[in-house]
Amino acid sequence: MIDYQSVLNAINETASKEKERGKIADYIPELEKVDVNNFGIHLIDNHQNNFSAGDSNELFSIQSISKVLTLSMVLGLIGEDVWKRVDVEPSGDPFNHLSLLELENGIPRNPLINPGAIVIADILVSQLKNPKDDFLSFVRQIANDDTIDYDETVALSEKKTGFRNFAAANLLKSYKNLNNDVDAVLDFYFHQCSLAMNCEQLTHVFYVFMNHGKCRRNKTFLTLSQVKRINAIMLTCGFYDEAGEFAFEVGLPGKSGVGGGIVALLPNKFCVATWSPGLNPKGNSKLGMLALEKLTTETELSIF
Ligand code: DON
Repeated sequence: MIDYQSVLNAINETASKEKERGKIADYIPELEKVDVNNFGIHLIDNHQNNFSAGDSNELFSIQSISKVLTLSMVLGLIGEDVWKRVDVEPSGDPFNHLSLLELENGIPRNPLINPGAIVIADILVSQLKNPKDDFLSFVRQIANDDTIDYDETVALSEKKTGFRNFAAANLLKSYKNLNNDVDAVLDFYFHQCSLAMNCEQLTHVFYVFMNHGKCRRNKTFLTLSQVKRINAIMLTCGFYDEAGEFAFEVGLPGKSGVGGGIVALLPNKFCVATWSPGLNPKGNSKLGMLALEKLTTETELSIF
């Protein structure tokens, strides 16, 4: 039996001593208000034992981590048709780059870069009666947690400064890969990114990708094939131009967000979330990556 609690305690101790904590994202003004000294980690294993250390109960903005959840909902609604509008190749570019989108005629490289996630948001706006309410309820059901909610202040803050996302949505529209109004799609997108969760809640949502598509109550949300696809996309595209480095250092499928969260999982074994708001130059949590490298090295558990 692995003593996960001791490993998490050691990781938290190392993190608390770290002086170089990275830089907080400031292009969404509301995110800048967070204290860079926060660090939290939570792990749930396949028997639903929970372990945590540090600030694992503090809420933070999950940002791009939400892209995995919108993709999951879209797969359930329209299935494989989604791949007509978005590809599944890593981009090797930062999350907000637009050059490939133009070169490749408005088909985003994958659903986890911003243009891809905006196409996914467009599909949900078309498919759902009340997109924001319906998506929130989907996430709450997977987590079995009705306290999960949007942070309206963060959503509004991003709306005011989301110039590149407006550019992306307009470019998609010009290539006829956006069916709804730019404002309606981005309102949904900024809200999905504003979802606030703590490390524990994040592992409870992503448990479904570790547990063959079944949530903690054993209810099925995704087929085995959908889980395979989503985990593959997290592994190859979850960290943008640092996806190779994350696979190399950590060896797990995962997803990061500019709020400083990272969630990663080993199928059938555990799901882990870290939060440290300081980012490295590629926009991924600096201490979060170090923590997960330590976790998979010390436990000798990774997909490889
Ligand atoms: O669209 C944006 O720029 C943000 N709402 C999300 C970016 C993000 O989290 C990238 N992840 N590392």
